[in-house]
Formats: sequence, structure tokens, C-alpha cells
Amino acid sequence: MQLRQLGDVQVSAIGLGGMPMSIEGRPDETRALATIHAALDAGVTLLDTADAYHLHADEVGHNESLIAKALRTYGGDTSGVLVATKGGALRPGDGSWTLDGSPEHLREACEASLRRLGVDAIGLYQFHRPDPKVPYAESVGAIRDLLDAGKIRMAGISNADPDQIRQAQEILGGRLASVQNQYSPAFVSSRPELDLCDELGIAFLPWSPLGGISGAAELGGKFAAFAEVAREHDVSPQRVCLAWMLATSPVVIPIPGSSRPETARDSAAAADLVLTADEKTALDEAVGVF
Ligand SMILES: NC(=O)c1ccc[n+]([C@@H]2O[C@H](COP(=O)([O-])OP(=O)(O)OC[C@H]3O[C@@H](n4cnc5c(N)ncnc54)[C@H](OP(=O)(O)O)[C@@H]3O)[C@@H](O)[C@H]2O)c1
Repeated sequence: MQLRQLGDVQVSAIGLGGMPMSIEGRPDETRALATIHAALDAGVTLLDTADAYHLHADEVGHNESLIAKALRTYGGDTSGVLVATKGGALRPGDGSWTLDGSPEHLREACEASLRRLGVDAIGLYQFHRPDPKVPYAESVGAIRDLLDAGKIRMAGISNADPDQIRQAQEILGGRLASVQNQYSPAFVSSRPELDLCDELGIAFLPWSPLGGISGAAELGGKFAAFAEVAREHDVSPQRVCLAWMLATSPVVIPIPGSSRPETARDSAAAADLVLTADEKTALDEAVGVF
């Protein structure tokens, strides 16, 4: 498995997103554990989760608990696995997503994530999404305090614009390890953030890289160029999409979600798919990035 730098550690170039295993349409626990184990078998060492990845109001942290269980029950070595979780978003249980970026909430949420993950310090803790009710500096300041207190080993942000990335980097004293934004062939408007991360040497984690839970299956149908390159290599268009992202910048580490072992394996194999310069250009042109 190809490795990439995330803060002060190296992780697999392709991560695993845990969201589809804990929200609407989620699989039973046996299949979810098999999915995470399949990713680990394939060499994936970055597992992305959040306390808000759950369905019902009384099961906050469903996905963190699932990941902790998968790591406990895995037969192999998990010492090199980085679990990246998030705080600052909530699900009241009616299907909606809400925000609380207050320092108080982030402190409490971090403690609860520490308990669920069963660790002394969280590997990577990401501020989930800016909360318009709370000054950004206050939220990121709370993340900095968690870092200084040793509750988290690395700090990241998510759904941030270029100004917020620069602001967070300053507040964290140059210790911003990662930025997680939406980025896919159908959603390239995070390209300025990707380019800024490339310039600053900060890991960029595209979320919903395949177009999201409901859009991933149609990627090849919507973007013919990806289907064409996939045919040339006899692989899935989804694998081509992830390889295309990897070829964009060495700071990019996609975190495709999966709820089946087959898709987790297929995505992980994108780390070994090398595209030609002409293929990369054709895919860039197809989605309108240059
Ligand atoms: N920071 C944020 O605000 C934010 C927001 C959304 C998501 N995220 C994170 O980003 C991760 C990824 O986003 P996402 O799960 O929303 O969307 P996604 O990765 O674009 O798509 C997920 C879907 O893709 C399918 N899939 C995965 N690999 C495939 C392959 N090789 N071939 C065919 N289908 C494949 C999976 O199908 P199966 O279910 O059939 O396996 C899954 O349902 C999430 O899991 C979560 O960790 C973060």
C-alpha cells in the first residue's frame, strides 16, 4: 500500500470513511465489521469517523464504537492505524444535522470520543464544520487546547474555506495536520482549498470522493471519461476516480465510504493504479479542473 504523510505520521494513500456504516441505509454489524476488516486486510491505515455518524438520538458515536470494536476484533496488527474522528456536529435523531462549535461542547465531545475509542489520546481530531453561532477562532482555539492538553495527538479541520485554513494554521501554531472538504468529479469547488493544502504541505482529505452514498454507483454513467479510462485498465470507474485524486497532489488522501467488503477492497486498490499523463489530463478536462 502506498503511504502518504498526514501530520507526523504516514498512513495509507486511501482511507476508509465510516459514515455509510452508521447512518441511513446502514448494514448490520457483522457486515460492517467485515467491511472494516477488509479495508485493514488491504493495507488501509486511516479510518475516518465522527461522533455524529449515527442514526437515532440515543446512539451518539455509533460509528466510533463500531471502529473501536473492529480494531479490537481484528486478527492482525493495528498499531499503525490512525483513527480520525470529529466533533462539532450533532444528529438529533430526526434525520437532520445540527452544529455546536462552542468550546464547552468540543471539550465534552472529545472526552466522550476518547471513551468510545478506548484511547488515552485521539489520533486525529477534526473540527467538523464551522458553526455560524460561534466565532471560528473560539472553536479552533478549543481544538488547540485539546492538543496542548494531550487529549488529541493531531488536529484537523473540515468544511473550511482558504481563510479559515490560514486562520486555523495560525491559531494552532503551525500544527494543522489536515483539512477535510467535499471533493469529487461532481464537486470540484474545493479545488482552491486543495491547492492551498498542497502549498502549505497539509494533508487534504476529500470527503464523498465518489459523489456520496447515493451518487457513487453512477460515477461512470455521469462522467464518461472515467468510464473510458476504467475500461482501458479493466477496473471500476470509482477506482479510477480515486487514482485521479491521488495523482492531483501528494497531499491528497481520499476517504471513500463503504458498507461492503467488496467496495472497500476495490477502493483500496486505487493506490496501485497508475494513470498516464494523458489520462490524468483527460479526466481533469472532463470535470473542468486545470
Ligand atoms: N467532513 C464532513 O462533513 C463529511 C461529510 C460527508 C462524509 N464525510 C466522510 O467522508 C467519507 C466518504 O464520503 P461518503 O461516504 O459520503 O461518500 P463516497 O465515499 O463518495 O461514497 C460512498 C459510497 O460509495 C460506494 N463505494 C465505495 N467504494 C466503491 C467502489 N470502489 N466501487 C463502487 N462503489 C463504491 C459505497 O458503496 P457500498 O455502501 O455499497 O459499499 C458507499 O456507499 C464518509 O464515509 C465520511 O467518513 C465527511
